[in-house]
Amino acid sequence: MKSALFHRVFILLPWILIVILMLDVDTRGPAPPLTPRPDFAPHPGGRGGVRLPPRRGAQKRSASRPPPPPPEPLPTIYAITPTYSRPVQKAELTRLANTLRQVAQLHWILVEDAAARSELVSRFVARAGLPCTHLHVPTPRRYKRPGLPRATEQRNAGLAWLRQRHQHQRAQPGVLFFADDDNTYSLELFQEMRTTRKVSVWPVGLVGGRRYERPLVENGRVVGWYTGWRADRPFAIDMAGFAVSLQVILSNPKAVFKRRGSQPGMQESDFLKQITTVEELEPKANNCTKVLVWHTRTEKVNLANEPKYHLDTVKIEV
Ligand code: UGA
Ligand code: MN
Repeated sequence: MKSALFHRVFILLPWILIVILMLDVDTRGPAPPLTPRPDFAPHPGGRGGVRLPPRRGAQKRSASRPPPPPPEPLPTIYAITPTYSRPVQKAELTRLANTLRQVAQLHWILVEDAAARSELVSRFVARAGLPCTHLHVPTPRRYKRPGLPRATEQRNAGLAWLRQRHQHQRAQPGVLFFADDDNTYSLELFQEMRTTRKVSVWPVGLVGGRRYERPLVENGRVVGWYTGWRADRPFAIDMAGFAVSLQVILSNPKAVFKRRGSQPGMQESDFLKQITTVEELEPKANNCTKVLVWHTRTEKVNLANEPKYHLDTVKIEV
């Protein structure tokens, strides 16, 4: 009897040990990644500071080793967005804010094409959950015609605000980007533009009557443009295809968008000519071979059945 029991324990024991060992290995598993993705905001409404759990063993750092230098501050990305009142405005702004909110250290400059700040946009900005400056300037009536460039005054108002804000202090590192309210932006795009030293460029999807337009790059330099529309443009690039460092904006205080003589599609060239040369451009997005932004345009909504006078029992903001 005793020897039978001994026999069983003897056979079972190694198995029990093996099971315990396996369980132990299993629960250790691979360690969660500790490297932050510093370009993205860590939480909704995040304003940049990436907070991480302390590294394992960090407390044990020996007293003699000096602490690591503080991380370089991320350059602030200033996104200037002209916007105007229309049925899809709030939908466009919602889509855009949902993207921008995920980008660390981003300041949104929203410029309404209006004589005063609208209630809709004011309410929107208050709840947007990201640092935002709300400006307004109306486009003079004579310029509100098809075939004329759009948002000239609004982009200039954004530029003026930036220059005013930084006029006294030494410029903090920053990057300016013109983010129209109807385009589609990948988060990777912001990672790319963040390292702009002077003026950086990249491809834009769904533009110029083609699937994409892009700067042609040879040996790390822009040497021409892949485009199907007005290839004679000095900078054959859409507004969504470039970023400019804050330093360049401040050291070229007269660079603005011009109404005089400017045609649609030439605004980008007219502006870029004032601050840089083609040779100087910094290609991003893997030597301009990746599309990270799309020039999407929202279809005009069908309001054919909208009543002439307010019929509903409640008033709803759309
Ligand atoms: C193209 C370019 O992508 C624009 O950057 C450029 O301003 C425009 O051409 C032009 O012709 O000037 P497109 O899609 O045709 O873009 O222009 P929209 O998206 O209609 O307008 C560009 C931006 O200006 C948008 O953010 C829009 O909300 C704003 N906008 C447009 C105004 O503020 N006021 C207007 O009357 C029209
Ligand atoms: Mn557009």
